[in-house]
Amino acid sequence: MTSWIFGYGSLIWRPDIPFERQQPARIYGWQRRFWQGSHDHRGLPDAPGRVVTLVPEAAAYCDGMAYQVAAEVIAEVFETLDHREKNGYQRFDVDLHFGEQPPTPGLVYIAPQDNHAYLGPASTRQIATQILTSAGPSGHNVDYLLALADALRSLDADDPHVFELEAEVVRNSTEKRP
Ligand code: SIN
Repeated sequence: MTSWIFGYGSLIWRPDIPFERQQPARIYGWQRRFWQGSHDHRGLPDAPGRVVTLVPEAAAYCDGMAYQVAAEVIAEVFETLDHREKNGYQRFDVDLHFGEQPPTPGLVYIAPQDNHAYLGPASTRQIATQILTSAGPSGHNVDYLLALADALRSLDADDPHVFELEAEVVRNSTEKRP
């Protein structure tokens, strides 16, 4: 049997896993937030960047990309993703919505509030400043934010949190970016 994996952050534009099919999907009850610290990809152990996680919110939904993975490679895919998402993320079961079709079971990597790298809420300005001044082995934190905003536009997905941060970063980037 195949498995579906839902991506809402870097997995949208850089899945880097073998999959049979990809399809835009929506999950309900979660909102995307730049509240997770990144010490290993977009920041450093003593200077974490900020990346997205999902925060429970009954009235919210989150749009992203779902990947259908063949049974023969699913163990290898989980090994790859468990390593990539090792800084606080865990796999959660979720219902994926593809348009009007009945929901399909899937999995999503979420960094819950009690993980060691969780940073939590901050103002748009504070988050933007942290993103502007952070970089790590996977690249500059700004590039993560801009790639996510572009990926959401190409999915026709609205996400005021992400687009407000993008606007704030673009306004300030010439002054602060190292
Ligand atoms: C995801 O993309 O689904 C997880 C968060 C991330 O790696 O950006």
